[in-house]
Amino acid sequence: MRREKIVHLLKSDAPKEKIILSGWVRTKRDSSDFSFIEVNDGSCLSNIQVIADSDIANYEEVKKITTGSAVTIIGRLVASPGKGQKWEVQAAEVEVVSLTPETYPLQKKRHTDEYLRTIAHLRPRTNKYGATFRIRSEISYAIHKFYRDRGFRYIHTPILTGSDCEGAGELFRVTALDLEAVPKIDGKPDFENDFFGKEANLTVSGQLSAEMFALALGDVYTFGPTFRAENSNTRRHVAEFWMVEPEMAFCDLIGNMDIAEEFIQYLVEYALSECKEDIELFAKFVDKKLMNRLESILESGFVRLPYTEAVAILEKAKHQFEYEVSFGRDLQSEHEQYLTDRHFKKPVIVHDYPKSIKPFYMRANDDGKTVAAMDVLVPGIGEIIGGSQREERLDILESRMDDTGINREEYWWYLDSRKYGSAPHSGFGLGFERFLMLVTGITNIRDVVPFPRTPNNIEF
Ligand code: 4AD
Ligand code: MG
Repeated sequence: MRREKIVHLLKSDAPKEKIILSGWVRTKRDSSDFSFIEVNDGSCLSNIQVIADSDIANYEEVKKITTGSAVTIIGRLVASPGKGQKWEVQAAEVEVVSLTPETYPLQKKRHTDEYLRTIAHLRPRTNKYGATFRIRSEISYAIHKFYRDRGFRYIHTPILTGSDCEGAGELFRVTALDLEAVPKIDGKPDFENDFFGKEANLTVSGQLSAEMFALALGDVYTFGPTFRAENSNTRRHVAEFWMVEPEMAFCDLIGNMDIAEEFIQYLVEYALSECKEDIELFAKFVDKKLMNRLESILESGFVRLPYTEAVAILEKAKHQFEYEVSFGRDLQSEHEQYLTDRHFKKPVIVHDYPKSIKPFYMRANDDGKTVAAMDVLVPGIGEIIGGSQREERLDILESRMDDTGINREEYWWYLDSRKYGSAPHSGFGLGFERFLMLVTGITNIRDVVPFPRTPNNIEF
């Protein structure tokens, strides 16, 4: 007989004569002739209550069960007389799979997030983190479903690359050179004799590869890990994060914004319907305004605001910003959050940014100053999506590369796509962790990543 998951047992519509379940003990209470054991198996937030009468064979051993111990129960699923639960389990046998000693760090009911980060290997056993990582899993599935239902193909873009898509130089180097004795030519590492025969790094974005496939398969997306060596210790940056990047042929900036908006709304709706119990935990204990915020995302269309108008609003704002705003400066998170949280009180898509602050691949607008870029900003977080229409005109792309110091020869394959069958196309990248912050109300990105990587932190 196979073990049944608690999530299914609790939804049963009839009692069951014989079931097996396994999980970890959350609490146990003993009375004179029976014990109540609350078991959780990670399949859902709820525990199932197990009653072990004193006449079961190993009752002496059952009495010794501690919080965190692993158990397997064979018994009957019966209607529960208790409040708040429909079913409980009357145990016929309790197998103690392993006893957990008193040193188990999760004895208390509540711990701070800071403390739980120091035991990231155990925190998924708490209600909050169990819920977080179940939601993370469900939303991953929803991402694939969203694109697949719309005819997009899933492309596995490389993690090891020789390019720097964003041109920001925040690269983690990959090398097989002997770091104790790096071979050098003219004082520089001899990458020609390195593994790939040239400089290599971990990808910062799958976009450039995805573009090649959009110009062949039409609508594609990639969803995978990306790496950035930005030395920013903020609550919204990690060195390793996941990005979802759709790329659409024959699509302009307006079409790109339409898909971005539909995508975010779809994921929020999916979370509300498919992760109800877990989301409710966050609404109750983590962020009292969560439900309002999520509903406001579903109800209203996102504001679409040209960058120049965003700057005008911020310049007029009666608010002391730490960083100055003016045309040609990038928006800081304080500016983004002013727009979403205070001015519009809903998501805002800022578009047509100055070309001086955006990467080479974004399509130049006719005004000579801006590019067809868009950032989706959401309440509580700020930027969650960055994207653009891509420059499909070979000559303009080449001169942008020259202006931004990008070596055309190295990107010969990228330029080929503009020589052969070039077509307008657009895409964007959604920071998966930032989206998870949005749907859970969790305010530190480190708490939505199983094992977060940040400056000076790669313990687990
Ligand atoms: O705005 P970014 O840099 O855009 C790109 O990489 C484009 N090549 C994407 C594309 O058009 N296909 O990054 C996209 C998103 C950001 O909006 C943010 O949500 C997230 O990725 N992001 C990070 N998330 C966590 N930690 C970091 N260090 C992040 N850097 C970016
Ligand atoms: Mg960006």
